[in-house]
Amino acid sequence: MNKTMTLANGQTIPVLGYGTWRNNDPKECVNGVKWALEHGYRHIDTAQMYGNETEVGEGIRLSGVPREEIYLTTKLNNDNHGYENAKRTIDESLERLGTDYLDLFLIHWPEVKGHEDDWETDNIETWRALEEAYEAGKLKAIGVSNFKVKHLENLLPNCRITPMVNQIRVHPGIHQAETVKMSREAGMIIEAWSPLSPIPQMLEDEAIVEMTEKYHKTVAQLLLRYCVQKDYVPLTKSVHEDRIIENAAIFNFKIDEEDMAYFDQWEWDGEVFN
Ligand SMILES: NC(=O)c1ccc[n+]([C@@H]2O[C@H](COP(=O)([O-])OP(=O)(O)OC[C@H]3O[C@@H](n4cnc5c(N)ncnc54)[C@H](OP(=O)(O)O)[C@@H]3O)[C@@H](O)[C@H]2O)c1
Repeated sequence: MNKTMTLANGQTIPVLGYGTWRNNDPKECVNGVKWALEHGYRHIDTAQMYGNETEVGEGIRLSGVPREEIYLTTKLNNDNHGYENAKRTIDESLERLGTDYLDLFLIHWPEVKGHEDDWETDNIETWRALEEAYEAGKLKAIGVSNFKVKHLENLLPNCRITPMVNQIRVHPGIHQAETVKMSREAGMIIEAWSPLSPIPQMLEDEAIVEMTEKYHKTVAQLLLRYCVQKDYVPLTKSVHEDRIIENAAIFNFKIDEEDMAYFDQWEWDGEVFN
């Protein structure tokens, strides 16, 4: 289950990540992270914005899994943009998570309150703080999240170190093809957030229900496997232990070409916010 991909700097990243967005209840958050690690996940994704870095750190410690076996990501909060703020707040995240390095640190959003008119400069300045922390060894890899083509066009010519990851929303119905193409051409790995969003709609889709019978897999497992076959790194979360186990059982089957094509053209009737 610990299939990995290799980032542009040679670092390996486990393909399946356990996410922690909306793990708001402290006990649920601690347990979720602990269960994920106990059940073999080795990649945990959090963010300053989720307000749960302390609980994520606690879950890691309670799991007993050595820190060096875990790939740990957090993201810069929107109100911590700017060179000085970003520099300071990286240390705050390290403190809350109880670690002296992060495997990956991302700029969470490219256009934030207070920087509506100067987001171009803001991203370049903020990125400089990440580059320095990377060079200092505090961050083993650095990247961006929710960056679209225009944001990449601004940052890429103005950075010394190219982002290694772009974490965006991709799943059947939301493909962000231009962003994926540009990110990959620059050498970034795509991480997929909210990959399970289509579940309710897909449960009403006869062709997909048939696929669950054909592969003996749930819709959740098909959606996560879809990401793997698209060479995305899916991040998925549940606060339920049985679902945490279910979501990890995606490396012992393959969706055939015809069914991948069905997912590729499948139309999502949910909200498209990126
Ligand atoms: N960069 C960004 O801006 C951004 C934005 C959003 C998310 N993320 C990251 O990406 C991670 C994944 O996104 P997400 O949290 O939206 O996760 P997701 O895995 O797409 O969906 C999670 C939802 O599906 C439910 N679920 C989980 N497993 C299930 C299963 N096997 N069957 C049916 N329902 C299931 C969960 O409920 P229960 O918990 O009740 O099981 C939860 O409501 C986040 O946790 C976060 O780390 C990043």
